[in-house]
Amino acid sequence: MAATGGAYIFTTPITFLLLLISVALAEDHSHGISSYLVRGSSVTIEGTTTTAILVSPNGAFACGFYRVATNAFTFSIWFNGSAAKTIAWTANRDEPVNGRGSRLTFRKDGGLALLDYNGTAVWSTNTTATRASHTELLDTGNLVIRDPDGRSLWRSFDSPTDTLLPSQPMTRNVQLVSASARGLLYSGFYTLYFDNDNQLKLMYNGPEVSSIYWPDPFNKEWVNQRTTYNSSRHAILDQTGQFVSSDQLKFEASDLGDKVLRRLTLDYDGNLRLYSLNTASGNWSVSWMAFHRVCNIHGLCGKNSLCKYNFPKILPQKIYIPKLKCSCLEGFEVIDASNWSKGCRRKASKTANWNKQRRQKANITANEDFSFKKLAETDFYGYDFAYKDLVSISKCRHMCLDNADCQAFAYRQGTGECYPKVYLFNGKNFPHPQNDIYLKVLNGDMSSSKLASSVTHGCKVHEKEVNVSSQMLKDGSSKFKFGYFLSSALTLLFIEVILITAGCWVVYKWGRRPEITDEGYMIISSQFRIFSYKELQKATNWFQEMLGSGGSGEVYKGVLDDERKVAVKKLNDVIQGEQEFRSELSVIGRVYHMNLVRIWGFCVEKTHKLLVSEFVENGSLDRVLFDYQSISPVLPWGQRYNIALGVAKGLAYLHHECLEWIVHCDVKPENILLDKDFEPKIADFGLVKLLNRGSSALMLSSVHGTRGYIAPEWALNLPITGKADVYSYGVVLLELVKGVRVSSWMVEGEEGVEMAVRCSTEILKEKLEAEDQSWLQDFVDHRLDGEFNHSQAIMLLKIAVSCVEEERRRRPSMSHVVETLLSLVD
Ligand SMILES: *[C@@H]1O[C@H](CO)[C@@H](O)[C@H](O)[C@H]1NC(C)=O
Ligand SMILES: *[C@@H]1O[C@H](CO)[C@@H](O)[C@H](O)[C@H]1NC(C)=O
Ligand SMILES: *[C@@H]1O[C@H](CO)[C@@H](O)[C@H](O)[C@H]1NC(C)=O
Ligand SMILES: *[C@@H]1O[C@H](CO)[C@@H](O)[C@H](O)[C@H]1NC(C)=O
Ligand SMILES: *[C@@H]1O[C@H](CO)[C@@H](O)[C@H](O)[C@H]1NC(C)=O
Ligand SMILES: *[C@@H]1O[C@H](CO)[C@@H](O)[C@H](O)[C@H]1NC(C)=O
Ligand SMILES: *[C@@H]1O[C@H](CO)[C@@H](O)[C@H](O)[C@H]1NC(C)=O
Ligand SMILES: *[C@@H]1O[C@H](CO)[C@@H](O)[C@H](O)[C@H]1NC(C)=O
Repeated sequence: MAATGGAYIFTTPITFLLLLISVALAEDHSHGISSYLVRGSSVTIEGTTTTAILVSPNGAFACGFYRVATNAFTFSIWFNGSAAKTIAWTANRDEPVNGRGSRLTFRKDGGLALLDYNGTAVWSTNTTATRASHTELLDTGNLVIRDPDGRSLWRSFDSPTDTLLPSQPMTRNVQLVSASARGLLYSGFYTLYFDNDNQLKLMYNGPEVSSIYWPDPFNKEWVNQRTTYNSSRHAILDQTGQFVSSDQLKFEASDLGDKVLRRLTLDYDGNLRLYSLNTASGNWSVSWMAFHRVCNIHGLCGKNSLCKYNFPKILPQKIYIPKLKCSCLEGFEVIDASNWSKGCRRKASKTANWNKQRRQKANITANEDFSFKKLAETDFYGYDFAYKDLVSISKCRHMCLDNADCQAFAYRQGTGECYPKVYLFNGKNFPHPQNDIYLKVLNGDMSSSKLASSVTHGCKVHEKEVNVSSQMLKDGSSKFKFGYFLSSALTLLFIEVILITAGCWVVYKWGRRPEITDEGYMIISSQFRIFSYKELQKATNWFQEMLGSGGSGEVYKGVLDDERKVAVKKLNDVIQGEQEFRSELSVIGRVYHMNLVRIWGFCVEKTHKLLVSEFVENGSLDRVLFDYQSISPVLPWGQRYNIALGVAKGLAYLHHECLEWIVHCDVKPENILLDKDFEPKIADFGLVKLLNRGSSALMLSSVHGTRGYIAPEWALNLPITGKADVYSYGVVLLELVKGVRVSSWMVEGEEGVEMAVRCSTEILKEKLEAEDQSWLQDFVDHRLDGEFNHSQAIMLLKIAVSCVEEERRRRPSMSHVVETLLSLVD
């Protein structure tokens, strides 16, 4: 009875009877393995496989010898129901024991210990010389040593490794430490802990540097919605999937509810993820995670390298799970391609030269020997040896040249902020459109001569500059003209043809998008259900009240049994099979944000394919904004600004924050709905993919955007990213301010609405730069009778102009737009 797999349990005669009883008690629940181990027992590992010693009464957890390598074992607790035995806790994560002759022993003195084959105690509990009587694996996954009265003397919950289980408290004495790599148990560099300021934080604690990266170290705690004033330092994940911490951090699983096995794990990549177990398949799904923009995690790419997101190259994709990609800076090479955390080093031939030169530089400021290579929209976190604002770029250059250790400097046009840096860590794309890095490179270096020449070009432009603002304007306008010329020609010639091709690609490719990420987990939806056709017939009273009919189908009003008002959309041209339709919708259904129309579910029965979403009272923006018959009152300025802000928030969420990033592709006033308080909600996101609009060019272009709102890269056949939505958003902003639909902007002699947008923004750009701003009165919607906030209007127009830049790199990210707009909220 005591033989279980490769392990044998020996007990002293005194405790043998007790063991028998306890095994018998637990047996009916646990398929033969007890949940108890009594004092005096000893289990020896004699096998080559993972072997359970104890199983929790509910069968959810097991603990025993876990095989980490051919002949290396740990004493661990794992989820019995997961396909790959997922470890929840390990006693000896950094010191595995031998597969032959190692023992787990519950010593007669009361201590539970793990002994290696030669008798060395690799791990033991502090219960020596106590009344400890038995060890028990509880249903929660907690391994507890108790005395005869049932009091617990030691709990595995008090010393977690990288995983927190529901009901396991996170306290001031507890920290989670990530594993070092995927599939390994060894301690890695990431830590979740309560810091001295009472906030729960994530820290990268690498061999060379350490830094805190969560919550966002750039923000004050109130911006991060944390508090430093509650010193109880206690956090807990409850059984329903809600996490609450004393520093006011709160989050919840997207599949909220009990009866789900969950774990909160600090993964090897420094991301904190909440997982739910699918008991049928044994696979895990992610139901929350701390970072959607993983490049914000420190240490992933090591030093002298850049973290980027790996977007698909050819395909326009609206829904994607971005993966990070590390790359060395020019002139550097990767130290260990299998372990990017080591980063990059200067290419071998150059090191000596660089150091020699550097030593000389310390005394002789022969600055001509260096030049700077510009990396646009990039930043490295920290390691600034100085900071100055309102300085010119050449001043900043000199600060870097004057310091022999300076590797690069960051410079922000506009504010003239200068950050010279001595180390280059945590490099990433920085969404601030005017934050550039200038990398210091040595001219004399043979192999970098090519590099240096391209750099010189960049420098010359800046050297001419006299002060910050004039340089900025010059740079901007020359780029603009080039882009203008290039794209108008291309747009007019190719737009329709290429739209068809792009469209076909999308429709073809999307049916094949995998549901599971490379990391092997699925991301799950919440409170999202399937409706029957009957149910929807009843709810809409046999499709009586039509709310509208747009590119994606007819929309009817309905009321569900629970009195929720809904909009039911009949999707007529869905080409996909039922299974694909379901999986696509489960992506859309998990998206939840105040400025996005909530999808409640769908119905798929035979030919019927319907989408059920929340009912939004005030209809779409175009009806209110372009209502020249004045049926509804004129949209006042405050509401327009709020709509601009809300739409930006919704798009920022789609682009960077939801579990899978989504590009909308059809941002226009028709798809912006207004609720009873005129709060905007974006509709039809992620929908494009489901529909087949036939093969005519007209139909295709109506799916993949609407003329006047589509970004030039559609015509240039570039991959479509969130920046395409930024463009459309810019057009909507202009409409909001002008109160005139983009299609009516065309003046005589102009061909196409694209041209009209180009022309009006160019004119607008000049006006915005002018001293005299009296044109504004005339520009802003006349129906407002001059009742608008002057600085907000200027701000909206400036943002709009930058959003419709030809070159998408120059367009701001939606999160940057949100920040800017928030700065002017009254
Ligand atoms: C543990 O899981 C296996 C399948 O993975 C199952 O056969 C076994 O019954 C489970 N044990 C308990 C005690 O539930
Ligand atoms: C037992 O083996 C381990 C590793 O093989 C070694 O570090 C330790 O010193 C040994 N202990 C004794 C008592 O021999
Ligand atoms: C063992 O240590 C834990 C915390 O590390 C403590 O809570 C517990 O009281 C200790 N047990 C004994 C018997 O000292
Ligand atoms: C501090 O946090 C704890 C745990 O979340 C909570 O019970 C307590 O009320 C908080 N105290 C204050 C002063 O907010
Ligand atoms: C990666 O490199 C670091 C040293 O920078 C080392 O500590 C770590 O163990 C390595 N990880 C792997 C998986 O080799
Ligand atoms: C700089 O040069 C002076 C003499 O010119 C010398 O005394 C000093 O040590 C040098 N400093 C460094 C850092 O080499
Ligand atoms: C920038 O330069 C121009 C002309 O050289 C000058 O008129 C202007 O005052 C300067 N601005 C600042 C902020 O120095
Ligand atoms: C579970 O995940 C594995 C790999 O991640 C996958 O191959 C398998 O199909 C999944 N099983 C189910 C039922 O989803």
